[in-house]
Amino acid sequence: MPNNTLNLSGKHILLGVSGGIAAYKAPILVRRLVEAGAIVQVVMTANAHHFVTTTTLQAVSGHVVRDDLWDQAAEAAMGHIELARWADHILVAPATAGTIARLANGEASDLLSTLCLASNAPVSLAPAMNQQMFAHPAVQRNLTTLKTDGYQIVGPDSGDQACGDTGLGRMTEPEEIVQALNASSAKIGTGPLAGQTLMVTTGPTREAIDPVRYISNHSSGLQGLAVAEAGRQAGARVILIAGPGVDPCHGDIARFNVTSAQEMYDRVHEHLPETDLFIGVAAVADYRPANAQQQKIKRHTQAEDQVQLPLIENPDIIASVVQAQQAKVVVGFAAETNDTLQNAREKRARKKLDAIVVNDVSDQRIGFNSLDNAVTLIHTGGEIDFGVQPKTAIAEQLISQLAELFAPKLQA
Ligand code: CTP
Repeated sequence: MPNNTLNLSGKHILLGVSGGIAAYKAPILVRRLVEAGAIVQVVMTANAHHFVTTTTLQAVSGHVVRDDLWDQAAEAAMGHIELARWADHILVAPATAGTIARLANGEASDLLSTLCLASNAPVSLAPAMNQQMFAHPAVQRNLTTLKTDGYQIVGPDSGDQACGDTGLGRMTEPEEIVQALNASSAKIGTGPLAGQTLMVTTGPTREAIDPVRYISNHSSGLQGLAVAEAGRQAGARVILIAGPGVDPCHGDIARFNVTSAQEMYDRVHEHLPETDLFIGVAAVADYRPANAQQQKIKRHTQAEDQVQLPLIENPDIIASVVQAQQAKVVVGFAAETNDTLQNAREKRARKKLDAIVVNDVSDQRIGFNSLDNAVTLIHTGGEIDFGVQPKTAIAEQLISQLAELFAPKLQA
């Protein structure tokens, strides 16, 4: 009986099984997915055959199991591109170190890796391997790359391993993998921003003075993080460009960490052609030291009491986004300490933004490092005051307002 409390009902799930001992749990996983109402097709890597049979997986899924990129008979029935398009969600479980490395490198060396490249469906991975292998920097590096590319990583769990070791590396239990898939599939592809790509900048930037010192500001990145998460929950594909020190985000968000304003500018423009809605929440440093030193500046190198630090202007990222005319809607944030609304209205006009969200950072209860905020959204047609609320609630209301206000532009 399909479990109708889950969101997987009628969903096309492509299960990729790679060659680790945890593959013996793949038939149970198929059963759980089918019980949740999903339609499941299975693809195996060559090594998976050492641990589980095609007959078993075929019996539980009710579909022919595919394992060869060059299978003439299957190509005639459902080619690999067709299979890639068929999938609403790809789940790789177990994902071995080898498969993770192939996916992180963008290889198309077998059917599973090719499908992951050829599909625009979200991909979830359930890593499973020996704890020593899982801890290896190369595996961790590959997983970080995949997270940045928007892959969802489920697990692994800690405990006794088939090899006799104990530690982090056991595949998450099938029931929990189904729950994780269910939670992410509830969000992706539905909601007021479904089909849109949202780019958010958040956090401070750091401008180097020398290898140990920098200029920065008090931004925590929390408001931008909440905006990115609200965008994800509204169905958008989200790209987050985060300055230093910003907390972790959901695995489905494609995150790029940057340090300086120039790096933020470069990353933003790299992904701007894919962006529909741009929201600049970052507290970008307006100036940077004109001559960042390669070696630590020593005390007493100058005879005077006062040391001069010449600054030069950083690029205005959001103004350059408006100028590029690639994103359909551009929204800014303004942190003000005085004449809040008037300054923000002028800033919106000067930067030619579709809307600006302003907060008064001189108010100690809200703003930098606080979990609460109080903002006003200023757009051509009016102003909306959101009052003091948690940053997460403000982000949700903001996203839903922006989706409604700019629906004609975004859907054009
Ligand atoms: N911004 C940007 N690049 C900069 C400076 C600001 O993209 N170099 C963006 C911020 O992300 C925000 C908006 O511009 O969305 C307003 O930022 P703010 O610091 O308030 O504006 P400034 O132009 O720096 O104006 P001022 O500091 O004079 O108030």
